[in-house]
Amino acid sequence: MTNNQANINKIVTPCQKGLKGTIEIPPDKSLSHRAAVFSALTHAKCEIFNFSSGKDCHSTLGVLKALGVEIDFKTDKNLILKSPKEFQKPSCMLDAGNSGTTIRMMSGVLARLPFDTVITGDQSLQKRPMKRIITPLEQMGAVIESNDFKAPLTIRGKKLHPIDYASPIASAQVKSCILLAGLGTEGVTSVTEPYVSRNHTEIMLDYLGADINTDGTKVSISQSELTPCPIHIAGDISSAAFFIAAALIVPNSDIIIKNVGLNPTRTGILDVFKAMGADIQILDERTVCGEIVGDIRVKTSDLKGTTIEGAMIPRLIDELPVIAVVATQANGKTIVKDAEDLRAKESDRIAVMAEQLRKMGVEMEETPDGFIIEGKQNLRGSATIDTFHDHRIAMSMYIAGMVGDSPIEICEFEWVDISFPEFEGMMAGLC
Ligand code: S3P
Repeated sequence: MTNNQANINKIVTPCQKGLKGTIEIPPDKSLSHRAAVFSALTHAKCEIFNFSSGKDCHSTLGVLKALGVEIDFKTDKNLILKSPKEFQKPSCMLDAGNSGTTIRMMSGVLARLPFDTVITGDQSLQKRPMKRIITPLEQMGAVIESNDFKAPLTIRGKKLHPIDYASPIASAQVKSCILLAGLGTEGVTSVTEPYVSRNHTEIMLDYLGADINTDGTKVSISQSELTPCPIHIAGDISSAAFFIAAALIVPNSDIIIKNVGLNPTRTGILDVFKAMGADIQILDERTVCGEIVGDIRVKTSDLKGTTIEGAMIPRLIDELPVIAVVATQANGKTIVKDAEDLRAKESDRIAVMAEQLRKMGVEMEETPDGFIIEGKQNLRGSATIDTFHDHRIAMSMYIAGMVGDSPIEICEFEWVDISFPEFEGMMAGLC
C-alpha cells in the first residue's frame, strides 16, 4: 500500500433488512499467489483464469516481473504469463508489499537462483517474523542476511541440499517456502508440521507434474520440472467468511455464495459455525484443478458458543477475527486456544480485535494464545475503529458495525484492498 493513498474513513450503519441474494466470491488469494509463482517456475507460457485483484497478489506479480516474467492481462482477471528460460537478476530490490505469502514463498525460490537478490516489503511486513523461513533455508545451505530475522532479506543464491525439516509451527507459508526450495534441489526435501496447514501448494504442484507426496503431516518433494497447464482459481473462502458471518448474525438473512474453494484444509470456519448451530448448506460440489469448489447457502441462525483449538486452528487462522465478532452474538462461551500465531499476522489480531470490540462495549478476555468471549452481547455503535493497517480487522469490524445499535466509523478502510477490493460493493448489493 502506498503511503500517499488517501485515507478513507468508512461509516458502517446497522443492517436493518437482512442480507438477501446471490454473490460470486472473488478469487482465492492463496491460490492466486501460487498460480503466479508456479506458472513462472514452468519457464514457459501459462494461462491463469480468475486471478485475485487484491494488492497482495499483485505484489507477487511485481516480484515475478522484476525477475523477467511478462504478465499480460487479457481481461481484469485472466492473464497470460510468459516466463523466461532462466530468471533474470533484478535491477532493484524486490518489493513484496504487505504480503507475507509473497516474501516467504519467493524466498524459497530466490535462495536457489544463481545470483543475489534483496527482498523487502512495507512497514508492516518489515516487522513480521522471517526466522521461520531463514532457519530451514539455512539448513539447506542458503545464505541470507536479515535485519535481526526481519526483512529486508539479502538472499545470496546458492545450490542447496535437501533436508528433512520438522517445522515447529503449522504454517503453509513456511511449508511452501521449503517445498519451493526443494523443487529445484537434487534429492528429497521433506517438511513435517505439527498440524496440517493449507495444502494448496501440494495440490497445485502435483497438478503441474511435480514429484510431491503427502503422508499425514509430512510432505516430500523431489527435484522436478513443472509442465505449463491452465489454472482456474476458485473463490476465496476467507473472503466468503465475512459474508457467511454477516448472514448468520444479521436477522432475516438468506444468501448464496457461489464458487467458493472448499479445500478441507480451509473449511474450519464451516465446521466451527456448524458446531455453533449455523444453518449452512453446501450445494453443487465439484473439483477444479484438483481443488474442491462449491456454493454455500447461509441463513440467519441461533448460535451457541464453542471451543476452537489444536488442529482446527490452521484450518481457520485467517477467519478468527470475524469469528470473534460472531462469538459476541452466540449464546454462551466461545474459547479460542493454540492461536498464538495470530499475534504475528498483519497486526496482533488478538490484541487489536479485543481493543476494537471493547470500543463497542464487548467484554472479551485476551489470552496469550487466543481469547474468550461470552455472548450474547450488545454491540454499541458510535465507536471509532482503527484497523492497524490490517485488511481482515477492517472487514471484521465492518461486520460488527452491521449488528451494532448505531453506526460506527472505521478509519483507513482502504486497507481492505489488500485482499478484497470488491468487499463493500458486494455487501451493499446484499443489504
Ligand atoms: C497463507 C498462509 C497462512 C495465512 C495467510 C496465507 C498462504 O499464513 O494466514 O493469509 O497462502 O500460504 P501462515 O502460513 O503463516 O499461517
